[in-house]
Amino acid sequence: MKTKIAGIGKYLPKRVVTNQELTTYMDTTNEWIIERTGIEERRYAEKHKETTTTMAAAAARIAIERAGITPEDIDFIIFATLSPDYYFPGCGVLLQRELGLTKTEIGALDIRNQCTGFVYGLSVADQFIKTGMYKNILLVGSEMHSMGLDFSDEGRAVTVIFGDGAGAVVLQPTTKENQGILNTVLHSDGTHAEELAMINPGSHGGYHLGTEKFGYPDPSIPGGVFVTQKMVDDNMLTPNMTGQLVFKNAVVKFPEVIKEGLAKAGLEKEAIDLLVPHQANLRISQFVQKVMGLPDEKVVNNIQKYGNTTAASIPIALCEAFEDGRINEGDLVCLAAFGSGFTWGSVLVRW
Ligand code: ACO
Repeated sequence: MKTKIAGIGKYLPKRVVTNQELTTYMDTTNEWIIERTGIEERRYAEKHKETTTTMAAAAARIAIERAGITPEDIDFIIFATLSPDYYFPGCGVLLQRELGLTKTEIGALDIRNQCTGFVYGLSVADQFIKTGMYKNILLVGSEMHSMGLDFSDEGRAVTVIFGDGAGAVVLQPTTKENQGILNTVLHSDGTHAEELAMINPGSHGGYHLGTEKFGYPDPSIPGGVFVTQKMVDDNMLTPNMTGQLVFKNAVVKFPEVIKEGLAKAGLEKEAIDLLVPHQANLRISQFVQKVMGLPDEKVVNNIQKYGNTTAASIPIALCEAFEDGRINEGDLVCLAAFGSGFTWGSVLVRW
Protein backbone atom coordinates (compact mmCIF):
# COMPACT_ATOMS: atom_id res chain seq x y z
CA MET A 1 0.00 0.00 0.00
CA LYS A 2 1.30 3.43 -0.97
CA THR A 3 -0.09 6.97 -0.77
CA LYS A 4 -1.17 8.84 -3.89
CA ILE A 5 -2.05 12.46 -4.49
CA ALA A 6 -5.62 12.02 -5.71
CA GLY A 7 -6.54 15.70 -6.05
CA ILE A 8 -4.83 19.07 -5.85
CA GLY A 9 -6.00 22.68 -5.64
CA LYS A 10 -4.70 26.16 -4.94
CA TYR A 11 -6.03 29.59 -4.05
CA LEU A 12 -4.29 32.90 -4.57
CA PRO A 13 -5.98 36.06 -3.38
CA LYS A 14 -6.88 38.57 -6.11
CA ARG A 15 -4.89 41.55 -4.85
CA VAL A 16 -1.52 41.80 -6.60
CA VAL A 17 1.11 43.76 -4.66
CA THR A 18 4.02 44.77 -6.86
CA ASN A 19 7.51 45.67 -5.71
CA GLN A 20 6.67 49.17 -6.87
CA GLU A 21 3.74 49.34 -4.43
CA LEU A 22 6.03 48.26 -1.56
CA THR A 23 8.31 51.23 -2.32
CA THR A 24 5.45 53.50 -1.22
CA TYR A 25 5.49 51.96 2.30
CA MET A 26 9.21 51.40 2.92
CA ASP A 27 12.64 52.32 1.66
CA THR A 28 13.19 49.65 -1.00
CA THR A 29 13.43 49.33 -4.77
CA ASN A 30 12.12 46.98 -7.46
CA GLU A 31 15.72 46.33 -8.52
CA TRP A 32 16.91 45.37 -5.00
CA ILE A 33 14.06 42.93 -4.51
CA ILE A 34 14.44 41.28 -7.93
CA GLU A 35 18.22 41.03 -7.70
CA ARG A 36 18.23 39.43 -4.21
CA THR A 37 15.06 37.33 -4.35
CA GLY A 38 13.71 37.14 -7.91
CA ILE A 39 10.30 38.28 -6.64
CA GLU A 40 8.35 40.66 -8.88
CA GLU A 41 4.99 40.64 -7.12
CA ARG A 42 3.00 38.77 -4.47
CA ARG A 43 -0.65 38.43 -3.49
CA TYR A 44 -2.29 39.79 -0.33
CA ALA A 45 -5.57 38.48 1.04
CA GLU A 46 -8.42 40.87 1.66
CA LYS A 47 -7.90 42.28 5.15
CA HIS A 48 -10.70 41.53 7.64
CA LYS A 49 -12.54 39.41 5.08
CA GLU A 50 -10.28 36.55 4.11
CA THR A 51 -8.29 34.48 6.60
CA THR A 52 -5.79 31.66 6.48
CA THR A 53 -8.71 29.25 6.90
CA THR A 54 -10.96 30.72 4.18
CA MET A 55 -8.09 30.57 1.69
CA ALA A 56 -7.38 26.97 2.72
CA ALA A 57 -11.03 26.07 2.20
CA ALA A 58 -11.00 27.54 -1.32
CA ALA A 59 -7.96 25.42 -2.26
CA ALA A 60 -9.38 22.37 -0.48
CA ARG A 61 -12.70 22.48 -2.37
CA ILE A 62 -10.81 22.22 -5.67
CA ALA A 63 -8.59 19.38 -4.42
CA ILE A 64 -11.64 17.49 -3.12
CA GLU A 65 -13.52 17.89 -6.40
CA ARG A 66 -10.50 16.78 -8.44
CA ALA A 67 -10.15 13.71 -6.21
CA GLY A 68 -13.72 12.80 -7.17
CA ILE A 69 -14.98 12.76 -3.57
CA THR A 70 -17.19 14.99 -1.42
CA PRO A 71 -16.08 16.90 1.70
CA GLU A 72 -17.96 14.36 3.84
CA ASP A 73 -15.54 11.64 2.63
CA ILE A 74 -12.58 13.36 4.34
CA ASP A 75 -11.55 11.36 7.40
CA PHE A 76 -8.52 13.38 8.54
CA ILE A 77 -7.38 16.98 8.14
CA ILE A 78 -3.77 18.15 8.40
CA PHE A 79 -3.27 21.90 8.40
CA ALA A 80 0.19 23.46 8.06
CA THR A 81 0.59 27.18 8.73
CA LEU A 82 2.65 29.73 10.66
CA SER A 83 -0.04 32.38 10.36
CA PRO A 84 -3.12 30.80 11.95
CA ASP A 85 -6.45 32.58 12.41
CA TYR A 86 -6.19 32.13 16.19
CA TYR A 87 -3.39 31.42 18.65
CA PHE A 88 -5.55 28.41 19.51
CA PRO A 89 -7.45 26.36 18.48
CA GLY A 90 -5.52 25.59 15.33
CA CYS A 91 -6.84 26.00 11.79
CA GLY A 92 -7.60 22.27 11.35
CA VAL A 93 -10.96 22.44 13.15
CA LEU A 94 -11.72 25.84 11.62
CA LEU A 95 -11.27 24.32 8.17
CA GLN A 96 -13.52 21.41 9.13
CA ARG A 97 -16.23 23.93 10.05
CA GLU A 98 -15.61 26.12 7.00
CA LEU A 99 -16.06 23.10 4.72
CA GLY A 100 -19.34 22.30 6.48
CA LEU A 101 -18.09 18.97 7.81
CA THR A 102 -20.48 18.12 10.61
CA LYS A 103 -19.41 14.55 11.27
CA THR A 104 -17.11 14.12 14.25
CA GLU A 105 -15.55 10.81 13.14
CA ILE A 106 -12.65 12.82 11.80
CA GLY A 107 -9.33 14.02 13.18
CA ALA A 108 -7.79 17.46 12.71
CA LEU A 109 -4.07 18.02 13.21
CA ASP A 110 -2.16 21.29 13.08
CA ILE A 111 1.44 21.39 11.93
CA ARG A 112 3.80 24.18 12.95
CA ASN A 113 6.83 23.55 10.78
CA GLN A 114 6.78 26.75 8.78
CA CYS A 115 8.44 26.32 5.34
CA THR A 116 8.61 22.53 5.72
CA GLY A 117 5.03 22.18 7.00
CA PHE A 118 3.71 20.66 3.79
CA VAL A 119 6.56 18.13 3.52
CA TYR A 120 6.14 17.15 7.18
CA GLY A 121 2.37 16.93 6.62
CA LEU A 122 2.85 14.60 3.65
CA SER A 123 5.09 12.37 5.74
CA VAL A 124 2.51 12.16 8.56
CA ALA A 125 -0.32 11.52 6.09
CA ASP A 126 1.74 8.83 4.36
CA GLN A 127 2.11 6.89 7.62
CA PHE A 128 -1.63 7.07 8.36
CA ILE A 129 -2.53 5.91 4.85
CA LYS A 130 0.03 3.08 4.81
CA THR A 131 -1.21 1.71 8.13
CA GLY A 132 -4.78 1.75 6.78
CA MET A 133 -6.01 4.16 9.43
CA TYR A 134 -7.38 6.77 6.98
CA LYS A 135 -8.52 6.68 3.34
CA ASN A 136 -9.06 10.34 2.43
CA ILE A 137 -6.69 12.78 4.08
CA LEU A 138 -6.96 16.49 3.33
CA LEU A 139 -3.59 18.22 3.69
CA VAL A 140 -3.37 21.99 3.30
CA GLY A 141 -0.71 24.64 3.57
CA SER A 142 -2.08 28.15 3.90
CA GLU A 143 -0.58 31.48 4.92
CA MET A 144 -1.82 35.01 5.45
CA HIS A 145 1.56 36.64 5.99
CA SER A 146 0.34 40.12 5.10
CA MET A 147 -1.27 40.51 8.54
CA GLY A 148 2.01 39.83 10.37
CA LEU A 149 4.64 41.85 8.56
CA ASP A 150 6.51 45.02 9.47
CA PHE A 151 5.89 47.62 6.76
CA SER A 152 8.41 50.07 8.19
CA ASP A 153 11.99 50.35 6.87
CA GLU A 154 13.12 48.17 9.76
CA GLY A 155 11.18 45.18 8.46
CA ARG A 156 11.95 45.56 4.77
CA ALA A 157 14.37 42.61 4.38
CA VAL A 158 11.67 40.20 5.55
CA THR A 159 8.49 41.91 4.36
CA VAL A 160 9.37 42.08 0.66
CA ILE A 161 9.80 38.28 0.53
CA PHE A 162 6.42 37.04 1.74
CA GLY A 163 3.00 36.63 0.15
CA ASP A 164 -0.39 35.05 0.91
CA GLY A 165 -1.99 31.92 -0.57
CA ALA A 166 -3.07 28.34 -0.03
CA GLY A 167 -2.58 24.91 -1.57
CA ALA A 168 -4.27 21.60 -0.77
CA VAL A 169 -4.10 17.92 -1.67
CA VAL A 170 -6.28 14.89 -1.04
CA LEU A 171 -4.27 11.76 -0.24
CA GLN A 172 -5.58 8.26 -0.77
CA PRO A 173 -4.22 4.70 -0.69
CA THR A 174 -3.08 3.11 -3.95
CA THR A 175 -1.92 -0.38 -4.80
CA LYS A 176 -0.90 0.53 -8.33
CA GLU A 177 2.64 -0.63 -9.11
CA ASN A 178 4.06 2.61 -10.43
CA GLN A 179 2.30 5.20 -8.30
CA GLY A 180 2.51 6.95 -4.96
CA ILE A 181 4.94 8.28 -2.38
CA LEU A 182 8.24 6.38 -2.51
CA ASN A 183 9.71 7.95 0.61
CA THR A 184 9.81 11.00 2.83
CA VAL A 185 12.92 12.30 4.59
CA LEU A 186 12.72 14.66 7.58
CA HIS A 187 15.46 16.57 9.41
CA SER A 188 15.72 19.17 12.15
CA ASP A 189 18.37 21.12 14.04
CA GLY A 190 17.28 23.58 16.70
CA THR A 191 20.68 25.27 17.03
CA HIS A 192 19.54 28.30 15.05
CA ALA A 193 15.91 28.38 16.18
CA GLU A 194 15.85 32.14 16.76
CA GLU A 195 17.58 33.09 13.48
CA LEU A 196 14.39 32.71 11.45
CA ALA A 197 11.59 33.20 13.91
CA MET A 198 8.79 35.16 15.43
CA ILE A 199 9.53 34.76 19.12
CA ASN A 200 6.83 37.12 20.38
CA PRO A 201 4.25 36.58 21.70
CA GLY A 202 5.19 33.51 23.71
CA SER A 203 5.17 31.81 27.07
CA HIS A 204 8.53 33.44 27.87
CA GLY A 205 6.36 36.51 28.57
CA GLY A 206 9.15 38.86 27.60
CA TYR A 207 11.67 37.19 29.90
CA HIS A 208 14.13 36.70 27.04
CA LEU A 209 14.28 40.46 26.64
CA GLY A 210 15.91 40.66 30.05
CA THR A 211 13.67 43.53 30.95
CA GLU A 212 10.32 42.04 31.82
CA LYS A 213 10.05 38.96 33.89
CA PHE A 214 6.29 38.88 33.79
CA GLY A 215 3.69 40.43 31.57
CA TYR A 216 1.82 41.97 34.49
CA PRO A 217 3.37 45.05 36.04
CA ASP A 218 2.64 43.58 39.49
CA PRO A 219 5.45 41.01 40.09
CA SER A 220 3.49 39.40 42.95
CA ILE A 221 1.14 37.81 40.40
CA PRO A 222 2.58 34.33 39.65
CA GLY A 223 1.75 34.29 35.93
CA GLY A 224 1.84 36.69 33.04
CA VAL A 225 0.52 37.39 29.58
CA PHE A 226 1.94 36.29 26.25
CA VAL A 227 1.91 39.81 24.85
CA THR A 228 3.53 42.54 26.91
CA GLN A 229 3.27 46.28 26.44
CA LYS A 230 6.99 46.43 25.60
CA MET A 231 6.46 44.05 22.69
CA VAL A 232 3.80 46.36 21.32
CA ASP A 233 5.68 49.59 22.01
CA ASP A 234 8.97 48.35 20.56
CA ASN A 235 7.46 46.76 17.43
CA MET A 236 8.52 43.26 18.46
CA LEU A 237 5.53 41.34 17.11
CA THR A 238 6.96 40.67 13.66
CA PRO A 239 9.29 37.98 12.28
CA ASN A 240 13.05 38.30 12.19
CA MET A 241 15.51 36.56 9.89
CA THR A 242 19.29 36.39 9.66
CA GLY A 243 19.11 36.26 5.88
CA GLN A 244 22.64 35.22 5.01
CA LEU A 245 22.73 32.40 7.58
CA VAL A 246 19.43 31.08 6.20
CA PHE A 247 20.75 31.32 2.65
CA LYS A 248 24.00 29.49 3.45
CA ASN A 249 22.22 26.64 5.21
CA ALA A 250 19.46 26.34 2.65
CA VAL A 251 21.77 25.90 -0.34
CA VAL A 252 23.54 23.02 1.45
CA LYS A 253 20.53 21.26 2.99
CA PHE A 254 18.27 21.33 -0.09
CA PRO A 255 20.61 19.25 -2.31
CA GLU A 256 21.58 17.00 0.62
CA VAL A 257 18.02 16.02 1.44
CA ILE A 258 17.06 15.54 -2.21
CA LYS A 259 20.04 13.21 -2.72
CA GLU A 260 19.17 11.36 0.50
CA GLY A 261 15.65 10.64 -0.77
CA LEU A 262 16.97 9.49 -4.14
CA ALA A 263 19.55 7.19 -2.50
CA LYS A 264 16.84 5.66 -0.26
CA ALA A 265 14.80 4.89 -3.37
CA GLY A 266 17.84 3.56 -5.25
CA LEU A 267 17.51 6.27 -7.90
CA GLU A 268 19.86 8.75 -9.56
CA LYS A 269 19.14 12.45 -9.96
CA GLU A 270 18.47 11.87 -13.67
CA ALA A 271 15.31 9.99 -12.63
CA ILE A 272 13.69 13.20 -11.40
CA ASP A 273 11.07 14.45 -13.86
CA LEU A 274 10.11 17.51 -11.83
CA LEU A 275 11.64 19.19 -8.79
CA VAL A 276 9.25 21.37 -6.81
CA PRO A 277 11.34 23.20 -4.22
CA HIS A 278 9.86 25.34 -1.46
CA GLN A 279 9.75 28.80 -3.01
CA ALA A 280 12.05 30.49 -0.48
CA ASN A 281 14.02 32.70 -2.77
CA LEU A 282 14.67 32.33 -6.52
CA ARG A 283 18.43 32.57 -5.91
CA ILE A 284 18.30 29.60 -3.53
CA SER A 285 16.31 27.51 -6.04
CA GLN A 286 18.69 28.44 -8.88
CA PHE A 287 21.65 27.43 -6.73
CA VAL A 288 20.01 24.07 -5.91
CA GLN A 289 19.19 23.48 -9.58
CA LYS A 290 22.82 24.10 -10.51
CA VAL A 291 24.19 21.77 -7.81
CA MET A 292 21.71 19.07 -8.86
CA GLY A 293 22.50 19.62 -12.56
CA LEU A 294 18.84 19.80 -13.54
CA PRO A 295 17.61 21.53 -16.72
CA ASP A 296 15.12 24.45 -16.46
CA GLU A 297 12.16 22.35 -17.60
CA LYS A 298 12.61 20.04 -14.61
CA VAL A 299 12.40 22.75 -11.93
CA VAL A 300 9.30 24.69 -10.88
CA ASN A 301 9.76 28.37 -9.98
CA ASN A 302 6.78 30.65 -9.41
CA ILE A 303 8.11 32.82 -6.57
CA GLN A 304 8.34 35.65 -9.11
CA LYS A 305 4.52 35.94 -9.03
CA TYR A 306 3.59 34.91 -5.51
CA GLY A 307 6.60 35.57 -3.26
CA ASN A 308 7.39 33.11 -0.49
CA THR A 309 4.15 31.61 0.83
CA THR A 310 5.86 29.34 3.41
CA ALA A 311 3.73 26.21 4.05
CA ALA A 312 1.62 26.97 0.97
CA SER A 313 4.47 27.37 -1.49
CA ILE A 314 4.99 23.71 -2.43
CA PRO A 315 1.30 22.80 -2.93
CA ILE A 316 0.72 26.02 -4.90
CA ALA A 317 3.74 25.34 -7.15
CA LEU A 318 2.81 21.66 -7.51
CA CYS A 319 -0.77 22.57 -8.41
CA GLU A 320 0.35 25.14 -10.95
CA ALA A 321 2.71 22.62 -12.57
CA PHE A 322 -0.16 20.09 -12.68
CA GLU A 323 -2.54 22.63 -14.24
CA ASP A 324 0.13 23.62 -16.79
CA GLY A 325 0.39 19.98 -17.91
CA ARG A 326 3.96 19.64 -16.61
CA ILE A 327 3.17 16.43 -14.66
CA ASN A 328 2.17 13.16 -16.32
CA GLU A 329 1.17 9.82 -14.86
CA GLY A 330 4.22 7.88 -13.72
CA ASP A 331 6.44 10.98 -13.47
CA LEU A 332 8.86 11.12 -10.56
CA VAL A 333 8.19 14.34 -8.67
CA CYS A 334 10.55 15.50 -5.94
CA LEU A 335 9.40 17.98 -3.31
CA ALA A 336 11.99 19.60 -1.05
CA ALA A 337 11.91 22.23 1.66
CA PHE A 338 14.13 24.06 4.12
CA GLY A 339 13.13 26.64 6.68
CA SER A 340 12.68 27.94 10.19
CA GLY A 341 13.78 25.63 12.96
CA PHE A 342 15.90 24.84 11.07
CA THR A 343 13.91 21.96 9.60
CA TRP A 344 14.27 20.42 6.15
CA GLY A 345 12.94 17.46 4.23
CA SER A 346 12.01 15.86 0.92
CA VAL A 347 9.31 13.70 -0.64
CA LEU A 348 9.63 11.49 -3.71
CA VAL A 349 6.32 10.70 -5.35
CA ARG A 350 5.36 8.83 -8.52
CA TRP A 351 2.41 10.70 -9.97
N1 ACO B 1 15.32 46.98 0.05
C1 ACO B 1 16.48 47.64 -0.03
N2 ACO B 1 17.54 47.39 0.75
C2 ACO B 1 17.42 46.42 1.66
C3 ACO B 1 16.24 45.67 1.80
C4 ACO B 1 15.18 45.97 0.96
N3 ACO B 1 14.00 45.32 1.02
N4 ACO B 1 16.44 44.78 2.78
C5 ACO B 1 17.68 44.94 3.23
N5 ACO B 1 18.27 45.94 2.56
C6 ACO B 1 19.63 46.47 2.72
C7 ACO B 1 20.20 46.22 4.08
O1 ACO B 1 19.77 47.19 5.01
C8 ACO B 1 21.68 46.28 3.81
O2 ACO B 1 22.05 47.64 3.73
P1 ACO B 1 23.50 48.12 4.29
O3 ACO B 1 24.50 47.39 3.42
O4 ACO B 1 23.45 49.58 4.06
O5 ACO B 1 23.55 47.69 5.70
C9 ACO B 1 21.81 45.70 2.42
O6 ACO B 1 20.51 45.77 1.82
C10 ACO B 1 22.27 44.27 2.42
O7 ACO B 1 21.52 43.56 3.42
P2 ACO B 1 21.70 42.04 3.66
O8 ACO B 1 20.73 41.59 4.69
O9 ACO B 1 23.14 41.75 3.87
O10 ACO B 1 21.23 41.54 2.24
P3 ACO B 1 21.45 40.16 1.58
O11 ACO B 1 22.28 40.31 0.40
O12 ACO B 1 21.82 39.12 2.56
O13 ACO B 1 19.97 39.86 1.09
C11 ACO B 1 18.14 38.47 1.72
C12 ACO B 1 18.93 39.73 2.04
C13 ACO B 1 17.43 38.65 0.41
C14 ACO B 1 17.12 38.27 2.81
C15 ACO B 1 19.16 37.31 1.63
O14 ACO B 1 19.95 37.23 2.77
C16 ACO B 1 18.47 36.03 1.43
O15 ACO B 1 17.94 35.76 0.39
N6 ACO B 1 18.52 35.15 2.42
C17 ACO B 1 17.81 33.90 2.38
C18 ACO B 1 16.65 34.05 3.22
C19 ACO B 1 15.42 33.68 2.54
O16 ACO B 1 15.32 33.44 1.37
N7 ACO B 1 14.42 33.62 3.32
C20 ACO B 1 13.18 33.23 2.87
C21 ACO B 1 12.38 32.88 4.00
S1 ACO B 1 13.03 31.54 4.84
C22 ACO B 1 12.70 30.25 3.93
O17 ACO B 1 11.71 30.21 3.29
C23 ACO B 1 13.71 29.23 3.91
